[in-house]
Amino acid sequence: TEVLVVAGPAAAGEYVADILARAIQTDPETVLGLATGSTPLPIYAALAERVRTEGIDVSSVSGFALDEYVGIDPAHEQSYHHVIDAEVTQTLGLNPERVHVPSGNPDTLESAGAAYEEAIRAAGGVGWQILGIGANGHIGFNEPGSPIDSLTRQVPLTEQTRQDNARFFDSIDDVPRHAITQGVGTILRAGHLFLLAFGEHKADAVARAINGPVSPEIPASAIQQHPNVTVLLDAAAASGLD
Ligand code: F6R
Repeated sequence: TEVLVVAGPAAAGEYVADILARAIQTDPETVLGLATGSTPLPIYAALAERVRTEGIDVSSVSGFALDEYVGIDPAHEQSYHHVIDAEVTQTLGLNPERVHVPSGNPDTLESAGAAYEEAIRAAGGVGWQILGIGANGHIGFNEPGSPIDSLTRQVPLTEQTRQDNARFFDSIDDVPRHAITQGVGTILRAGHLFLLAFGEHKADAVARAINGPVSPEIPASAIQQHPNVTVLLDAAAASGLD
């Protein structure tokens, strides 16, 4: 696990965007694993800038989002379908048909996980997976207790995660109680993982993910089992590392 402490989110975004831009130029069919939330936004902004200024052809790039809320209308502003479309597909100019988000439709949840796994397989697997980390150590919406070999499935959201994400909704009551997420095992299948974290409130989770034992209690600790990982932190998020 390579751990880089950088000046801040913008520097981290530039660093990852540079690698992704080169990857796309080398392999036009690059498959990106896409996180939502605040953390990856500087990557998407920096990559969009490079696509624009360098004229990088992204028409064959695919993307797979990590997760989606269950029971939210895909057109809802806070659905990850909408967020990924606005912040990634539109910003980078990707082909919408190549950008996938798991379905949070309650009526088809039984089969949605396996269907998503199959779609990832059919695209050749995720090459580059972008990850944030929850204050409780979650990756995707794999909350503490998620098995290391878990695949895409429905999961309950913890109270902490619902509170953390309440900032995006009118009130905590509007935050969904379940999500569908790529599993820890799904994430570990990607070719390269970038895990980013900024701010003091992530320091404890980061320290436990990087230095603690690999345990389902800190799902992000599973990255220790992956051979190609780059962790990018600001000084505050790195403050728990020795
Ligand atoms: C989002 C996701 C989550 C977030 C994490 C951090 O797709 O899977 O694991 O990465 O909750 O969220 P932010 O970046 O908003 O602090």
